[in-house]
Amino acid sequence: MKNLVVIGQGYVGLPLSQAASHAGYNVTGLEVNQEVVDNLNSGSSHVEDIPDLALQTMLENGYRATTDNAVIRDADVVVICVPTPLGDAGRPDLSAVESAVASVAENLEKKTLVILESTTYPGTTEEVLEPALESGGRRLDKDFYLAFSPERIDPGNKTWRLENTPKVVGGVTPASGDEAVEFYSKFIETVVKVKGAKEAETAKLLENTYRHINIGLVNEMAKFSHELGIDIWEVIKAAKTKPFGFQAFYPGPGVGGHCIPIDPSYLNYSVRKALGHPFRFVDLAEDINNSMPNYVVQRVQDLLNDHQKSLSGSKVLLLGVSYKADIADQRHSPAIPVANGLASKGAVISYHDANVPNWKFNGSTHESASDLDAAVANADIVILLQPHREYDLESIASNAQIFFDTRGASDNPESFML
Ligand SMILES: NC(=O)c1ccc[n+]([C@@H]2O[C@H](COP(=O)([O-])OP(=O)(O)OC[C@H]3O[C@@H](n4cnc5c(N)ncnc54)[C@H](O)[C@@H]3O)[C@@H](O)[C@H]2O)c1
Repeated sequence: MKNLVVIGQGYVGLPLSQAASHAGYNVTGLEVNQEVVDNLNSGSSHVEDIPDLALQTMLENGYRATTDNAVIRDADVVVICVPTPLGDAGRPDLSAVESAVASVAENLEKKTLVILESTTYPGTTEEVLEPALESGGRRLDKDFYLAFSPERIDPGNKTWRLENTPKVVGGVTPASGDEAVEFYSKFIETVVKVKGAKEAETAKLLENTYRHINIGLVNEMAKFSHELGIDIWEVIKAAKTKPFGFQAFYPGPGVGGHCIPIDPSYLNYSVRKALGHPFRFVDLAEDINNSMPNYVVQRVQDLLNDHQKSLSGSKVLLLGVSYKADIADQRHSPAIPVANGLASKGAVISYHDANVPNWKFNGSTHESASDLDAAVANADIVILLQPHREYDLESIASNAQIFFDTRGASDNPESFML
């Protein structure tokens, strides 16, 4: 049985550990967070896509989580799945990747295959990981293999899972690429080998930049369509009947999650650093997408005004505060700047989200409304930020005094749409 160490047991690392464990790997999850380790070893999962029952099976198959870097010594394969956030001034913060690769370099004793999955700027695998692993005179393909493979996990997506989503793999050398393809082919249906690590790194950034830019496009169109009296939702519905050359993207209160608001900045950073000029599409999309929470606040103020009410002192109910529907993940959710913007203008805010029982905004922690119907009836305006499937939008829209739908999810003609 081959030994796999997955560094970082979060949204990406834990599903990978599960798939590899299921395929017969002896998997160890290496983590810096002791609480995460203790919970995982006691059968309690913090990742929605891996229920406790699935974790239980992993534990029965020998999976263990640990904080002890020495487990790397016996690893045939090490995959790094640690966070890559933005640091000061919007620059990539690779500190977790650097620390993870330092642990690998200190403990590399076999001809181990090392793969980076964390999203990063082009060149990271060759410029940061390779020199670190070559310390002490080790040589690539002789003493270790090195590749990059971007993660495409879509939390909460029941159709496209790790196993059936094609996996892009790029080795720093062809031999390293072959090793990585062989590894993933054990538990992923389609493995796509690309020319090199840089191409694999950039492919991930292209995917997310493409989404970011297209969301920016429809957000800008939503704003001027409103001014022009055009229903943007009807426009998109019509355009998407074209069977080729068009993919529908939708406006909303802003982009959220761990990828779309961050990954394009990694690409922008690397273009600026190497070539000295910005990646203008990304700058523009960022400007537009970042303006959406304020735009929502403005529209709420206008709607209340049209009903002879001021935003200051009005009771505002926010529905759905996670960054996407039907999950609890709140990372970079636009609900926060929307709530802060409304609060700064004196609105009295409450929220409902069954996935998020406690939520922090405007400096304090609040509890989700316990009685949704009563909360809807009591609010001067109800704002749909996330259309969780449990919401009966027909009933909410007809019971609300004003219903503002930022997601185009309601069919009720009395709803006000973004
Ligand atoms: N979440 C997603 O939907 C998603 C999708 C595609 C790609 N990604 C990318 O995958 C990477 C990981 O994201 P995530 O969502 O799994 O993050 P996460 O925060 O859910 O999990 C990362 C884990 O790594 C641990 N960690 C940090 N530094 C460590 C170290 N030096 N050694 C061991 N463990 C360490 C953290 O404690 C945490 O538990 C990021 O680069 C992200 O951009 C995420």
